[in-house]
Amino acid sequence: MRAPMVAANWKMNGSRAICREFVEHFDVDGSVDVVFFPPFLYTSMLMEGFVSRSISVGVQDVCHVNSGAYTGEIGAEMAVDSGATYSLVGHSERRSLFGETDGLIAEKFTTCQQAGLTPVLCVGESREERLDGRAESVVAKQIGSILRTAGIKAFANAVIAYEPVWAIGTGETASPAQAQSMHAFIRAVLAKSDATTARNTRVLYGGSVKASNASELFAERDIDGGLVGGASLEFKEFTKICRAASH
Ligand code: PGA
Repeated sequence: MRAPMVAANWKMNGSRAICREFVEHFDVDGSVDVVFFPPFLYTSMLMEGFVSRSISVGVQDVCHVNSGAYTGEIGAEMAVDSGATYSLVGHSERRSLFGETDGLIAEKFTTCQQAGLTPVLCVGESREERLDGRAESVVAKQIGSILRTAGIKAFANAVIAYEPVWAIGTGETASPAQAQSMHAFIRAVLAKSDATTARNTRVLYGGSVKASNASELFAERDIDGGLVGGASLEFKEFTKICRAASH
């Protein structure tokens, strides 16, 4: 049985005032795992604020190595040392704006796991790739690169987020049927290596998730929750999305 999860990707947004609002008022029942991914600077404020609640805090990215002369970077071991438990890996904005390749993303995935951070591997196709009928092959390649480097067993301690690039920040959400079909495909890709891992791995949907579409997306068989960008900074909206994922 896969427990539902809702993750908040604040990207380069947020403030101490927004952190305070969540720390003081955010409350959902324990049937859904909630993870916040604020900018690095705000992670400790959320961790300290949520300490008595079962809410996790993660980082949006890590360097591919743990320490050294990498000005501006943050290592996975440091993230763990600071209390983080998850890291996003391979978000489409990292891939497209910062040139992250499948190879680098695989290194980051492994670095996270070695340090004790659970990677949330983001995969997804662009609009062009979908229109060309290549959505599945693109996603299979992104997952394949991790399978080759880390092996199927690594997915026992990882989460996958399917985020079609054309749905991120655009207000255009994949339909529940489109999302379900890709989630089932992702599970089939994993099942080629190991059926149990495929069954147990959580696969979240991301891309313009809102309170108004969360319930129908989360009702799909292979959708285990959401990775939420814009709507995760709005306290009431995000609370409703989390409630939509709880049983
Ligand atoms: P969005 O972003 O919900 O604003 O579309 C999702 C994401 O990029 O993780």
